[in-house]
Amino acid sequence: MKKRVAILISGRGSNMSALIAAARAPDYPAEIVGIFSNNPDAAGLAVAAVDGIATAALSHKAYPDKPSFEAAMNAALDAWQPDIICLAGFMRLLSADFCNRWAGKLINIHPSLLPLHKGLHTHEQALAAGVAEHGCTVHFVTPGMDEGPLIAQARVPVLPGDTSDSLAARVLVEEHKLYPAALAMLARGEVRFAS
Ligand code: GAR
Repeated sequence: MKKRVAILISGRGSNMSALIAAARAPDYPAEIVGIFSNNPDAAGLAVAAVDGIATAALSHKAYPDKPSFEAAMNAALDAWQPDIICLAGFMRLLSADFCNRWAGKLINIHPSLLPLHKGLHTHEQALAAGVAEHGCTVHFVTPGMDEGPLIAQARVPVLPGDTSDSLAARVLVEEHKLYPAALAMLARGEVRFAS
C-alpha cells in the first residue's frame, strides 16, 4: 500500500513538483493526495491542479489566531487522510499542538545543513559565516523551529564569487533529489521518529 502524502506549500512549489514527479514512478512508495496552501495565490497550487491533484487553500490572514487557522487546516488535511505530511516551502511556524498531533508523520525540507543556519535567509547566513560547504536537510518537524531529528542531508560546495542566488540555485538542485529520496525512506519504514 502506498502511503498517502499531503504537501503544504506557501509559494513557488518546486519541491512539491519534485515530489509529485517522483511519485509518478510505479514503484515509488507514496502517492500525493493533496496540496494545501496558506497562500491562495501560491503558484504551486495551479501546478498541482494541472497535475490533477486535489488542492485546498486557506489564508491564515482570515483567522483570528493560530489555533483557529490550524483547526481549519487540520480539517482540510483530515479529508485527505494523509499518512505523511511534507512541508515544502511552507512559511508559517506551526504550533506545538499541530506538531505533536502529527508527530513522526510531519517532515520538512530546510535549505541549510542543520543545525547550521536555522530560520530565514539561510544562503546569506552561510555566506556571512564563510563556510566551505552548504546544503539542505530533510527532518522531522517538532515544536522547536528547524530542530527536529534529521532524516537526510545533501551537501554542495560554496564557491568563490558565490552570491546568495547562485548558492540557492545550487542547493535547490539537491533539494529536488533529496526530498523524494527522504520521503521514500519514511514511506518504506526505513526511518522512524523516536521522541
Ligand atoms: C526551498 O528552498 C525550501 O527549502 C525553503 O523554501 C524554498 C521553497 O521553494 N524552505 C524554507 O526555507 C523553510 N524554512 P519551493 O516553493 O520552490 O519548494
